[in-house]
This record gives sequence, structure tokens and C-alpha cells, in this order.
Amino acid sequence: MKVGIVGAGMVGSAAGYALALRGGASEVVLVDRNLALATAQAEDIAHAVPFAHPCRISAGDYDALEGTDLVILAAGVAQKPGEDRLSLLSRNADVFAQVIDGVQRAAPEAMLLVASNPVDVMTDVALHASGLPPERVIGSGTILDTARFRSLLGGHLGVAPQSVHAYVLGEHGDSEVLAWAAARAGSEPVEHFAVQVGAAITGEVRARIDEGVRRAAYRIIEGKGATWYGIGAGLARIVQAVRDDQRAVLSVSMATPEVEGVRDVALSLPRVVGRAGVLATLMPELASDEATALRRSAEMLKETAEALG
Ligand code: LAC
Repeated sequence: MKVGIVGAGMVGSAAGYALALRGGASEVVLVDRNLALATAQAEDIAHAVPFAHPCRISAGDYDALEGTDLVILAAGVAQKPGEDRLSLLSRNADVFAQVIDGVQRAAPEAMLLVASNPVDVMTDVALHASGLPPERVIGSGTILDTARFRSLLGGHLGVAPQSVHAYVLGEHGDSEVLAWAAARAGSEPVEHFAVQVGAAITGEVRARIDEGVRRAAYRIIEGKGATWYGIGAGLARIVQAVRDDQRAVLSVSMATPEVEGVRDVALSLPRVVGRAGVLATLMPELASDEATALRRSAEMLKETAEALG
């Protein structure tokens, strides 16, 4: 599968690197208005390929996206220390207008995978600018938050994160919702599993894990200026589900007709992802406080998207 990446900064290049290591694409093309940067990133990633899987990595202008099956949109500005994701919206929405036009001139049918923040509203921007069907305009959404949730919960329970089935819903941001009521370890509700392994999930544990997920990016940005490895790997995971038609359940963002009474809003829910994009959307069983928080997250995203016009 040929994958394009527009934006050869830390997130875009980390996604290209993760794809090369995973063997998630036969060809990756990096595009950036700074061609020298895209070229250097491509050459650097290409030097990792002999240690990983065959993958042709190159850089070019938008014309080089011809024949791509999926394009990752990672162009735009990133959060600065203390800045929230929503504050990036006006700058990144302007960038997207040109980016999507360039992509569609070269690859009008390519699926779009949005990474730029605020990713949910940017997914909505990409949907309307591209005219593609909603299931082919996916945002990375809370795939990384879900990974963080599973890592912290698995760490508390003493099990691999792969054995924890828990999702973060709604905004990829401050209003996101950790779906505790639906969380499972193995086939057990996490609360039951925790008692059986002597690792009760107290209010303090829940608060610590919630804070650990919700504030992860802020902490990392304070320390190193940006995040890129986690999101790069999350993007590569989504690409692999598309390339191999895995029909994997991933918490990704997409324009959603209705969620908790809010209509037509892009946010993350567990979704079945395969070659055709999003094949189905699932609504977990939520506790009443979780349903209320999800509605609030959806309302905030809807208002933000409408304010953009
Ligand atoms: C983070 C960025 C990708 O959560 O929003 O690390």
C-alpha cells in the first residue's frame, strides 16, 4: 500500500518511521512545504529500513502523492507547553484548506487519516473540504489516549495492556471520557479482575489513572517540547488495520450522526476499521456519569466546529 504523509515534522516523520518498522506500507512519500526537511526525514527513515521491512521511502511535492491509497495529514502547528489542543484550531484549519486541495489534485480517492490537532474538529474540516464519504476520513482521535489508559490500567492490574480492553471516548483532549464501566481485563470487568488479583481499583487509583491519561501530553510537552512516538505508532496501527482489512476495533475519530443526543459531530468511539475505512461504530455500555461527560464532550466539539464556520 502506498501511503502519503503531509507534514514531515515530528509527528509525520514518527508515523513514517513506525510504518517502516511495522512493515505497514510498501511505499511512503513525505510531503512538506520545507522540501529539504521532508527529504532529510525520508533519507533518515530509509536508513532504518534494512533493519526492518522492505519499504520505499521518498520525499516530494504533492504530485508525488499520485497513486497513494491513504494520506496522513500531520501538517500544522503543535501545542506549546501549557497550550490546549483546541487553541491550535484557527491556524491549522487555514493550513488544511491548502493541504487537502493539494492532496486531492494528486490522489482524489485516497483515504484521509487526520493527525493534526485539534484532531476531532480537523477531521470535520477534512471531511467537508474533501467531499469524501465520512467513513474514509478518519482522525487518530483517542487511539493514543486508549493506549495510555490500557497501559496504566494494565500496570495497576499486573497484566499486559493487550489484555486490557478499555476505551477513551469523545474529544482527544481535556473533555475526553475514560469508559471505566465497559472496561475489561481478559473477559472480566476490571473491577472483578482487580479484586481477584488483589489490586482493588479504589477512587484514588481511578483518579491517578484518569490524570495519567488526561494530562499525559501536557507532561511530555513540558519535558521535551512535543509528543511524537506514541502518536506515530498509533497512526501506523490505523494504517495497518486499513492495509490488511483487519476489521480491528480502534477508538478513532469520525463524523458521527448522533451521540448522546448531539447530532453530526466528529469524535472518537470504538469503530471497526478495515480496507474501506470505518465499517461500523460501537457504543459501549456507559455509567450515567460517563454518558453525561460524553454528551458534554460532544457538545463542546460541536460548538467549536460551528464557531469555525
Ligand atoms: C498527544 C498529542 C498527539 O496526545 O495530542 O500526545
